[in-house]
Amino acid sequence: MTYDFDRVVDRRGSESLKWDVKEHELPMWVADMDFPAAPCIRQALEKRLAQGIYGYSITPEAWAKSYVTWWESRHGLSMKENELVFVTGVVPAISSAVRKFTTPGEKVAVITPVYNIFFNSIVNNGRVPVECVQDYRDGVYTLDFEKLNATLADPQVTLLILCNPQNPVGRIWTKQELAKIGEIARANRVLVFSDEIHCDLTDPGKEYVPFAAASEENRKNSITAMAPTKCFNIAGIQTAAVYAADPHLRHKIWRQINTDEVGEGNVFAADAAIAAFNEGGAWLDELRTYIYENKQYVYRYIKEKLPKVYALPQDCTYLMWLDVSAYIREHETSRELAQRIRERTGLYVSNGRQYRGDGEKFLRLNVACPRATVEEGLSRLKDGLAEEA
Ligand SMILES: Cc1ncc(COP(=O)(O)O)c(C=O)c1O
Repeated sequence: MTYDFDRVVDRRGSESLKWDVKEHELPMWVADMDFPAAPCIRQALEKRLAQGIYGYSITPEAWAKSYVTWWESRHGLSMKENELVFVTGVVPAISSAVRKFTTPGEKVAVITPVYNIFFNSIVNNGRVPVECVQDYRDGVYTLDFEKLNATLADPQVTLLILCNPQNPVGRIWTKQELAKIGEIARANRVLVFSDEIHCDLTDPGKEYVPFAAASEENRKNSITAMAPTKCFNIAGIQTAAVYAADPHLRHKIWRQINTDEVGEGNVFAADAAIAAFNEGGAWLDELRTYIYENKQYVYRYIKEKLPKVYALPQDCTYLMWLDVSAYIREHETSRELAQRIRERTGLYVSNGRQYRGDGEKFLRLNVACPRATVEEGLSRLKDGLAEEA
């Protein structure tokens, strides 16, 4: 490997959200990686920093071009540069879409378990989340399309927020599934907002399908959020994009993003995205291999030492979804279990309950860290669960 992902960087005391924990605690929760960003990104930021003047910025043409080239070459989606709109983050874009395309009191559909902040964007704007819960049987998640149709058939539902690929269950939706979701949405006059922030962290050899690439209908009836932040570990820079092929939808989301004042990037935002997409490919591919190997380590460890835990097979993201139902006591959820593990061992993982659906029987483990940290985390997980058995 050219890049050293084994190196442990001490992030304590650096105002990191993830690492703002007690001295003995080990955070493996929020989707933030413990790897320094690719050198090409650092160089681009250092160049900007060296100028010493940090005034208002414009988003250069090279910014949209970098997205278009990356999605065309990596994911087979053809976009035009003018179809992209800058936004400071995916969550701000989701909240803008909720405000623009729904009215207070209306329902917004989500396929659960799913990224918990979707619920904030819905509820904080006075809308009502409605869940289509995926079926979980024999350790596998599937989407029941009849259930989805019944969910979207409610005339109060006007927007579906999709997570593609799905955080936290680590599922890459197939082209057929995406086309079917799009067909059902269209038939029920529901707009789809596809959050594709995790799309570049698929296992080596595995490819995600952009929602808009699954069918022409999907392309016309959707807004997609894209960003380099999750996969290149630059979430703190706050740089993202929305893509809408339909000019009316694009105008509306652009208008709302500007009304919400989340359409202007900070002085580093465009440079970071351009460097990531134009020069970060080799780094990303090595990272994908490293994360894949971390996940294999977790599967082996759990099989050998924690056989009552089931780590879901997944082909994307660094967020592992652990079925800990064997350890959940009666009238309890994963929230209490996660808390006990934290108190006993200092290991801080996400409780599955916050992702709704059937998440109360799961923990989410972030393995985007050096192997030594994964080893330490698993040893703590084993100790934390030992007293539960
Ligand atoms: C599915 C998903 N969407 C959005 C975000 C956050 O996006 P942003 O930081 O661009 O608002 C996350 C962060 O974990 C996520 O998992």
